[in-house]
Amino acid sequence: MNNPSDTDVLAAKEVDQDNAIDRVLVLEMVRVTEAAAVAAAQLIGRGDEKAADAAAVEAMRRAFDTLYMDGTVVIGEGERDEAPMLYIGEKVGMGSDDGKAPKIDIALDPLEGTTITAKAGPNALAVLAAAEKGGLLNAPDVYMDKLAVGPGLPADIIDLAKSPSDNVRAVAEAKGVEPSAINVCVLDRPRHAELIGELRDLGCGVFLIGDGDVAGVIAVTDQDTSIDMYMGQGGAPEGVLAAAALRCVGGQFNGRLVFRNDDEKARAKKWGITDLNKIYKLDDLASGDCIFAATGVTDGSLLDGVKKRRKSTGAVIMSTQSVVMRASSGTVRWIRGEHRISPHRA
Ligand code: FBP
Repeated sequence: MNNPSDTDVLAAKEVDQDNAIDRVLVLEMVRVTEAAAVAAAQLIGRGDEKAADAAAVEAMRRAFDTLYMDGTVVIGEGERDEAPMLYIGEKVGMGSDDGKAPKIDIALDPLEGTTITAKAGPNALAVLAAAEKGGLLNAPDVYMDKLAVGPGLPADIIDLAKSPSDNVRAVAEAKGVEPSAINVCVLDRPRHAELIGELRDLGCGVFLIGDGDVAGVIAVTDQDTSIDMYMGQGGAPEGVLAAAALRCVGGQFNGRLVFRNDDEKARAKKWGITDLNKIYKLDDLASGDCIFAATGVTDGSLLDGVKKRRKSTGAVIMSTQSVVMRASSGTVRWIRGEHRISPHRA
């Protein structure tokens, strides 16, 4: 028998995934993030966070209508009474009269980095994660302590219950380097002053980002970024989105919800969270087959942003770069899109 070609191996690997999320749907998810990114991109640098967010939300909502699925938003733009669209519990997708459309839970952020977009900074994304029903933690909109490393390290090398210094030392030892050789990405916030001080005392490189910790966490999986670890507090919904990406490409993640008052605790209980101190690992946040899809809005470490270009034919296009990954196959696809905005099609 001939040796199978790479294509055969890939095809076989994917056919094995019969029980996984529909393969066509995986690629279709990119249409949804592309639509949100192109809409938000019209407002890059305009200083209007709300308008950029609203444009992305509306476009993402419309794009979902074209997908054959029975989708439910489990992480979205807020609760029903506070968000007009893409609220938690909202049904998205075409559905089907015979009930056969795949039942999918969706975590989304049509514009991850509203301030970034308003100020034309780096790393704004349109992003979503999808999983089979029940596969994503219904995280309340509170902060989450996050700790992440990329693939290729011994299991359970990180532990949020330990100090940042202990975690850096463990990762450094596993990588065979001094702690001072470890680079850590952290959100630039006053609440992280102590963490940053501790990391600098160890001699670590601290890569501060202004916003956008979904891209910040994913950066640990990309050797080109030279970031070894992600640490610090950011949004819990963003933690679930980043965890879905790490489920697909490898890496380790610890997350613990942070409650600032009783109201936030009550919100967590409402979503079925009983252990308020639990340290969540990847499988607790995104389990089973899951998909992560993102399109760059502004240029960043993960993706190029949307660009407006005039082709030699005279057509004006918006070019996009997206990534879509699936946990069950481990496939990562990088997709360049050209979306003609004029002349409009007949
Ligand atoms: P938005 O797109 O909602 O503005 O979120 C941007 C972000 O930087 C997230 O990436 C991060 O998780 C969160 O805000 C951090 O929150 P805060 O700005 O309150 O520190």
